[in-house]
Amino acid sequence: MQLSVTTQDPLSLAIDALVVPYFADQPWTDSAARLDAANGGLLTKLRESAELTGKLSETTLLHTATGAAARLVLLVGLGERELLHAGRAYQAAAAAAKTLAAKSRPQVAFADVEKLLPDLRPHVVAGAFNGGQGQDLYRQQKKLFPAQSLVFANLAPADLQTGQILGESIWLTRTLINQPADVIYPESFANEAAQQAAHYGLECEIWDQRRLTEERCGALLAVARGSSREPRLVILRYNGGPANQAPVALVGKGVTFDSGGLSLKTPEGMLTMKCDMSGAATVLGAMCAIARLRLPVNVLMLAGLVENMTGPAAYKLGDVLHARNGKTIEIHNTDAEGRLVLADVLDVALERGAAKIVDLATLTGACVVALGNDVAGAMSNHDAWQTTVLAAAKQAGEPVWPLPMFPEYEEQIQGSVADIKNVGDGRWGGAITAAKFLEQFVAGQPWVHLDIAGPAFSEKPKAWLDGGASGLYVRTLVELAQSLAKQP
Ligand code: BES
Ligand code: MN
Ligand code: ZN
Repeated sequence: MQLSVTTQDPLSLAIDALVVPYFADQPWTDSAARLDAANGGLLTKLRESAELTGKLSETTLLHTATGAAARLVLLVGLGERELLHAGRAYQAAAAAAKTLAAKSRPQVAFADVEKLLPDLRPHVVAGAFNGGQGQDLYRQQKKLFPAQSLVFANLAPADLQTGQILGESIWLTRTLINQPADVIYPESFANEAAQQAAHYGLECEIWDQRRLTEERCGALLAVARGSSREPRLVILRYNGGPANQAPVALVGKGVTFDSGGLSLKTPEGMLTMKCDMSGAATVLGAMCAIARLRLPVNVLMLAGLVENMTGPAAYKLGDVLHARNGKTIEIHNTDAEGRLVLADVLDVALERGAAKIVDLATLTGACVVALGNDVAGAMSNHDAWQTTVLAAAKQAGEPVWPLPMFPEYEEQIQGSVADIKNVGDGRWGGAITAAKFLEQFVAGQPWVHLDIAGPAFSEKPKAWLDGGASGLYVRTLVELAQSLAKQP
């Protein structure tokens, strides 16, 4: 997909389709107003009869508009002006791109993006880039025909560039998640990360099974034992900030397939578990974006990669694991594997000098019960750092909501023969008991855990998403790095 800007009047572009945005509660903006006039008040009539409402992501295709050189005009609603934020702007643009991609429309332009608030513009570009593509990778007969060329009329080149970097990074995350577990497994994910790192000039270190053993990563290794695939730990480093500035660490859960292990999942529960490496894919996408945007910060990225299977050497209920930080862990459920992987990875992050940590993980079904499919849970040991992370999510317009971390929850993970056990007592509050488990491995350093089990992957399509991986939270992490660059 080619992205570009033009200084030409969008209505003069001889292309397949022109996307014209408008608000639900505002008079027609520039291009829409001119189209309305050129068509004898057609748009106004459509609005009066409630054919056009301007609701967020509502798309209306006009086949016969005069006043525009484009073959088709697609009106897209931005919702109420007061409610518009980066996430809604991304969605509206993605919905427009997705609608147009239903047929082959190779040349598409977007009008009036430069009329939106400056902070929103790159998100429109990122949404336009992602909305038209999704889960077609293995289909002979494609369902979506993404545009070959996306033109943004009168957009500043810098906004286009930022938006393209965001869009491509999100797409990297989405394709890694959407590919099946026999294509993306620990070794192949690590190879992909190494390639991206080489491309964008990131320091890259990959620990194989032998190194993980030397490094005493007993919790991560136990999860990996049931699989024929060897585990990996990927450590990337980006040095954009001052040499003496301690890095922030982005840590991702990379379970490339979660069968549940001996605590086997049901077939329904297992079906989408190729998505259980979404945390790792999200931190990798964000890391690439941060490097390409040359943000003036130091960032570490760590992805713990394993496959959770039931092979003859699989870890068992009642096993006692020795985590890298010395804690012993009693296994009560092999399906609570993500926290075991993260336990060792968090310890490595600390050893590498992380001053602050954010981890992303498709960690618990309980978080989906608590917050629904579209919202990530935030859990932390440090109010100020959590406030910073939530502010970044808000700036990116990506839904994150805090869950409490009262000390009482910790009683639930006390072990009977080891220091701790890997599940709480019963399933209530499961997102939080999982976070309490992780807290044992951050040694009191500022840390925020984002449980993205709901929003990372969508079984059903949405107006702005062709189902599958959403790519959510890449933009939050980029905003976070940006905010640290402004005030460390
Ligand atoms: N990967 C799953 C969590 C998950 C569920 C992610 C649904 C995405 C969608 C995780 O490893 C898991 O199995 N968690 C268990 C924990 C339980 C055994 C304490 C769960 O949520 O049931
Ligand atoms: Mn599991
Ligand atoms: Zn899992």
